[in-house]
Amino acid sequence: MSQAHPLNILAISGSLKSTSSNTNILRALSKFKTENIEFIVFDGLDQLSHFNPENEKGTDAVANFKEQLKKADGVIISTPEYAFGVPGTLKNALDWTVSSGELNEKPVIAISASPLYEGGKKAMTSLLLTLGALGTKMNEKSHLSIPNISKKINASAEILDPQLKEDLAKIFNHLVEEIQKSKTDVIF
Ligand SMILES: Cc1cc2nc3c(=O)[nH]c(=O)nc-3n(C[C@H](O)[C@H](O)[C@H](O)COP(=O)(O)O)c2cc1C
Repeated sequence: MSQAHPLNILAISGSLKSTSSNTNILRALSKFKTENIEFIVFDGLDQLSHFNPENEKGTDAVANFKEQLKKADGVIISTPEYAFGVPGTLKNALDWTVSSGELNEKPVIAISASPLYEGGKKAMTSLLLTLGALGTKMNEKSHLSIPNISKKINASAEILDPQLKEDLAKIFNHLVEEIQKSKTDVIF
């Protein structure tokens, strides 16, 4: 059944690498969308100035990022782990939303992927703390850590691993359900 207003999903990769497996995961996720879903992969993470609480407005690139977040009904983050943590570019982007609250009450799913066996779990732990501080709508089904990613997806964003395909479909559907729920939530 098609809806009058599309659901807007904004996908953010924590990696700036042109061959990023995390960006490829977002491309693979976009293939699960139905016709009433608008799926945009944000590509301006490297344009954001460094967060400074004395300049909450930031640059035009920051304003554009906040605008895209505001328009989004749900957000997907897929990130590598750098030095056991969240890449600085992604953390910087999230810091810009602390006071302005674009992610508050927003359904979000978080993915970490690594060629190593832990799947970036330390970065995920840290990312979940940050997303919690930002007031995102998440639960135990809203995150996924993917180990050995280089064997599971190719450069054309084709998923080679059936289990990963299933896991990604599941987490994508979870996001869509959470968005639909949040749109029908009535405050008494
Ligand atoms: C500076 C740097 C630090 C890294 N630190 C970690 C790490 O702590 N844990 C991990 O699992 N992988 C680490 N890696 C490997 C990344 O997981 C790997 O490069 C991965 O492919 C990056 O994701 P991407 O393909 O989406 O860019 C690191 C890579 C770089 C370049």
